[in-house]
Amino acid sequence: KILIVDFGSQVTQLIARRVREDGVYCEIVPFNKADGAFKEMKPKAVILSGGPASVLDANAPSVPLPLLTAGVPVLGICYGEQTMAQQLGGTVEGGHHREFGRATIEVTDDCALFEGVWEKGGRYEVWMSHGDRVTRLPDGFRGVAKAQGSPISVIADDVRKFYAMQFHPEVVHTPDGAKLIRNFVRKIAGLTGDWTMRAFREEEIAKIRAQVGKGKVICGLSGGVDSAVAAVLIHEAIGDQLTCVFVDHGLLRLDEAKTVVDLFRHHYNIPLVHVDASKQFLGELEGVTDPETKRKTIGRLFIEVFEAEAKKIGGADFLAQGTLYPDVIESVSFTGGPSVTIKSHHNVGGLPERMNMKLVEPLRELFKDEVRKLGRELGLPEIFVGRHPFPGPGLAIRCPGDITRDKLDILRKADAVYIDQIRKHGLYDEIWQAFAVLLPVKTVGVMGDGRTYDYVVGLRAVTSTDGMTADFYQFDMKFLGETATRIINEVKGVNRVVYDVTSKPPGTIEWE
Ligand code: XMP
Repeated sequence: KILIVDFGSQVTQLIARRVREDGVYCEIVPFNKADGAFKEMKPKAVILSGGPASVLDANAPSVPLPLLTAGVPVLGICYGEQTMAQQLGGTVEGGHHREFGRATIEVTDDCALFEGVWEKGGRYEVWMSHGDRVTRLPDGFRGVAKAQGSPISVIADDVRKFYAMQFHPEVVHTPDGAKLIRNFVRKIAGLTGDWTMRAFREEEIAKIRAQVGKGKVICGLSGGVDSAVAAVLIHEAIGDQLTCVFVDHGLLRLDEAKTVVDLFRHHYNIPLVHVDASKQFLGELEGVTDPETKRKTIGRLFIEVFEAEAKKIGGADFLAQGTLYPDVIESVSFTGGPSVTIKSHHNVGGLPERMNMKLVEPLRELFKDEVRKLGRELGLPEIFVGRHPFPGPGLAIRCPGDITRDKLDILRKADAVYIDQIRKHGLYDEIWQAFAVLLPVKTVGVMGDGRTYDYVVGLRAVTSTDGMTADFYQFDMKFLGETATRIINEVKGVNRVVYDVTSKPPGTIEWE
């Protein structure tokens, strides 16, 4: 087991992910609870995350001392490095040279962390995000790599097995980062990777049972993989103490509602309430064009409809959601930190206290591909597990401008043709997410002898591993041409199709 001490970095969860990819169980705890967790968990190693604070601040968070004196290996990352260096007697100063983003570091000495990955004298690409730097080494340490902005960029104490680095090895922008973490986990801490998704399933089931007891849970199904996996997992844990509520907001894809009802009610025999609330949603969304207002409106209505259903079901103590890790971080904003709310995801936060229900979120620590693995582990049909992600606010955010039933119908049909094309060409599984967007513009076209004045459909397809960054998918032009022709011929109201070639960043995957 590894204990990860969180100092508030946006990417702490990525450290956990890397460790789990190496097949080692780990838990994340906030720095102010680390002392107790350390005693209870008795981890074989500790990793200190980055964070937005500066060790030079008066109330800077620090590592509880027992973690540094218990004789377990410690890996400090960014803020974790700085506080570790300072607490062990080194000096940290405000950097005259702030480094954010891609940087090159030069390895100046051999070190167990670099074994088989980096060589002395080599220069390697890493991802930096820090203002302070270590200027004097604590006793027992040596510097093993330097960067332009920080002459002491990686530090090592081989006797205590303490290692620390200024850069972030957990992000994909540090191409060798995962291997460095693996060296720490496997070679330095000596852990063998035998932790699997099956173990996660068992652990989560135990956690759900412990949390819920004899309580009743209601779970919102959205039609997507996440809520489906959450529901099946919870059902496995507590059986019919779970009732699923499927709120059909009228913003779903073609035939989606039917698929969900069939799978849950008929295949899994999970108690399911199907609420057709499309009138209410589309009514309130009428004339709303601002993306955040759309998201907030849908989020609020969703909760209202839920509350009404919960009342009807009666006595539900818990609300289950398929919240994933990327939903959590992109919705959190640290005051003063580098992160801002990018989009308010409708399934996170904002759950009114008045609902008086506690949350069950068994997937909160997982990334999408891990949820898929878990879904397969739980025996969900491949067609469902392999499905592209679909956002909670549904087609509302794929219909920039105001939303009408007519526009939604056009969008649904265009989207179905596009996805059909992708499946027919065997491309579905290569793509992380593909969908059509209905643009709020009409353009002139010509069909037969007549002039047309119809909508433009935008096509989006991206590859990604976690939804946090993405590249647009490189279709061949023949495929795009054929798809455009099919959409224009088969979907009335569309006379032009465009393809979106923006990656994330700077774009987001969805258009709103
Ligand atoms: P963006 O557009 O932020 O999307 O690049 C990243 C991933 O998140 C999905 N997404 C959402 N999922 N509720 C969700 O459950 C939401 O409000 C929401 N907004 C975006 C999006 O489809 C992509 O997979």
